[in-house]
Amino acid sequence: MKKILFAASEGVPFIKTGGLADVVGSLPKCIDKRYFDVRVILPKYACMKQEMKDKLEYVTHFYMDFNWKNEYVGILKAVVDDITYYFIDSEFYFSGMKPYGDDALFEIEKYAYFSKAVLGALPLIDFQPDVIHCHDWQTGLIPVYLKERFAGDLFFHDIKTVMTIHNLKFQGKWSIEGVQSITGLSDYYFTADKLEAYKDANLLKGGLVFADAITTVSDTDAKEILSDFYGEGLNGLLAARSNDLRGIVNGIDYTDFDPATDKKISHNYDAINFRKEKIKNKIKLQEKLGLKQDPKAMMIGLISRLTDQKGLDLIAYIMDELCQDNIQFVVVGTGEERYENMFRHFDWKYNDKVSANIYYSDDLAHEVYASCDAFLMPSLFEPCGLSQLIALRYGTIPIVRETGGLKDTVEPYNEYESKGTGFSFTNYNAHEMLACIRNAERIYYDRKREWNKLVDRAMAEDFSWEKSALKYQEMYDWLIG
Ligand code: GLC
Repeated sequence: MKKILFAASEGVPFIKTGGLADVVGSLPKCIDKRYFDVRVILPKYACMKQEMKDKLEYVTHFYMDFNWKNEYVGILKAVVDDITYYFIDSEFYFSGMKPYGDDALFEIEKYAYFSKAVLGALPLIDFQPDVIHCHDWQTGLIPVYLKERFAGDLFFHDIKTVMTIHNLKFQGKWSIEGVQSITGLSDYYFTADKLEAYKDANLLKGGLVFADAITTVSDTDAKEILSDFYGEGLNGLLAARSNDLRGIVNGIDYTDFDPATDKKISHNYDAINFRKEKIKNKIKLQEKLGLKQDPKAMMIGLISRLTDQKGLDLIAYIMDELCQDNIQFVVVGTGEERYENMFRHFDWKYNDKVSANIYYSDDLAHEVYASCDAFLMPSLFEPCGLSQLIALRYGTIPIVRETGGLKDTVEPYNEYESKGTGFSFTNYNAHEMLACIRNAERIYYDRKREWNKLVDRAMAEDFSWEKSALKYQEMYDWLIG
């Protein structure tokens, strides 16, 4: 049995702020249990739901030399859906109101602590992984510490590491003096071929240098990040490591997201009866959100973290024009205040057309996926994107910008050959996006049979984890040898 430990800063069902948590929550379940024992280690945040905290059992604790102190490290454990989860417990580091805070230096200290504690905990939990699979900058120091302090120890000697980049934009950067003082790493680690980047210390870079393999969450992203535009300053390093770099597209949990059985939606439907049944969800949602009762109006959904990555500036730019059309627009999500307020403003201005739900609710998200006709994702960059996969599954036609995973998973509609699963545009340009939306409106209103064929093809796509899980397994096999 090969043993894999996922280390991450968030994971469903315990704690989620974005797609990372969905991947950490759903991928381990899809790795073949006959050959792999996959477990997950996360921080134990005080802000986790009480009902989840109630599931955690104390395992043990130890004290760890960290940032000039002798820090307490608690280890907790829970088994959910056959997956074993471990938690690093520290009141000092993980008691914020949200998983991530605004103090960048404290974030670095917090996840440096987590990374070191993960390694320190291993000998105490009776699970000696063959591979530690690290996710994003928060776990970037694991491969570094593994080489540094722990590699002399036989227990750690053969452990391999994978670094998966979900979002290259966040790297965990701070001054070298600051990071060196916190981590206790020697001068040797703070050179340009290791943690140093543009005069700062960079935790993700450390992970990318020292990990045995690197992955990104789609093929196109793996290529895009080698360019200056998407490379976020690390494209040189990534190019140098391109032999160890692969893109494996994310999947979604096809049992959680299934319009035929989903208990969170008012009317279930499938690929056969969606023509009659799907629209009932829309009628119900219009009523619930106070939108104009008009089953025919094309409803466009957007469910997202409200950050600049998601192309919301394009939407702000054309929203007045778009709202002259016969459309409805439903937003769900939270994030940067300027975007939250932008959507609130349009909700106020076009009250019966726009519904801004500035909070996150999984239940409402499911209803929106089921109810909408189209789903908008005009991202500036999108390593993979999960919402478009969910939208396809619900026969809700994605309108996307051709970048990263959006490019790999949405096939542009070709009116002449009646092919494709969505609508897409190339440039990060508001009127190009508007033209693309209006093209979708035209098919929706004037060529309904064509639209329904788009829905047929969308619902026939398969973005469950199966194929991608096999690729991860191949990589683990190759690493373990
Ligand atoms: C990040 C990326 C998103 C990706 C997700 C899971 O949130 O922005 O594109 O789908 O991670 O890998």
